[in-house]
Amino acid sequence: MAYVTAPFPMSRPRRLRQSDWMRRMVCETKISADDFIYPMFIVEGTNISEPVPSMPGVNRLSVDLAVERANHAANVGIPAVALFPYTDLALKTPTADEAFNPDNLVNRATRAIRAAVPDIGIMLDVALDPYNSDGHDGIVRDGEIINDETLMVLEKQALVQAESGANILGPSDMMDGRIAIIRQALESHELQNVAIMAYSAKYASAYYGPFRDAVGASGALKGDKKTYQMDSGNSNEAIQMIARDLSEGADMVMVKPGMPYLDICQRVKTELGAPCFAYQVSGEYAMIEAAAQNGWIDRDKVIAESLMAFKRAGCAGILTYHAVDMAEMLDSGMPI
Ligand code: PBG
Repeated sequence: MAYVTAPFPMSRPRRLRQSDWMRRMVCETKISADDFIYPMFIVEGTNISEPVPSMPGVNRLSVDLAVERANHAANVGIPAVALFPYTDLALKTPTADEAFNPDNLVNRATRAIRAAVPDIGIMLDVALDPYNSDGHDGIVRDGEIINDETLMVLEKQALVQAESGANILGPSDMMDGRIAIIRQALESHELQNVAIMAYSAKYASAYYGPFRDAVGASGALKGDKKTYQMDSGNSNEAIQMIARDLSEGADMVMVKPGMPYLDICQRVKTELGAPCFAYQVSGEYAMIEAAAQNGWIDRDKVIAESLMAFKRAGCAGILTYHAVDMAEMLDSGMPI
């Protein structure tokens, strides 16, 4: 939709770019801390802050330090955090029972943050990969990821998470039928205020590598996730998955990874209009940090430009490991 202008020289588009105030005045897209969800990795112990080597600047935090970090995130205006547990190998089983233990690490972290930081939203992943000894998001038998049996475990996992105080559940498992099962379970347990942000268009991506290090799942994973996560060549299928999850009771949807799939975000905005979030994943984060460490890019400007791209594509918000840094940069008046 191009608007009509006079031909040159009557029209000189550079007139609207001539000064900072003019550029700010006509800027079509803004980002703010309100746009961010901040993913955090949680580890057992007290006073532990453990660097994730493939994600420079990201640390796994014990619950006490995670509470402090979540408090800081709230103070810089970030609406929600997403918590991911680093699970001890000894707790991983083929049936992923730790997933629905009400006292597992992520549920304890949720209760602690809920008590100490009442004004921040808490989002939890519904998927079995942190707890499954095969490293998969579902139950595996003879090399196959069994859909319907997984649904029963996901339902139990979702309920204990909601009961622990999670405000948003993010089913990231890509099993068929999970949104309906979880939504019905929430309804029947008087947990109807819990929102679902479905990882609807989740691609089988090489960009998740550093995350799997961060949660200790890389060693466990046997094979790949292509029988449930999407093929990177598909676009119509993404729209179909998003429509399906909305029709099963999702409140919001997600496209993941982020930057390589901005075309999908834009299609969701124009074709469905549903609140759509993008997950700027671990590999995207790692690429920016690695290039910056080499002095090859201006880190802060690249972060800002990348996050702007998601908003321009029509996203309601972005899950980003840069959330706190970006919010602080915005606070300090960084021109973007
Ligand atoms: C697990 C899950 C993954 C991510 C979020 N939830 C990894 C995967 O599917 O293997 C990736 C996030 C990131 O890379 O930052 N279901």
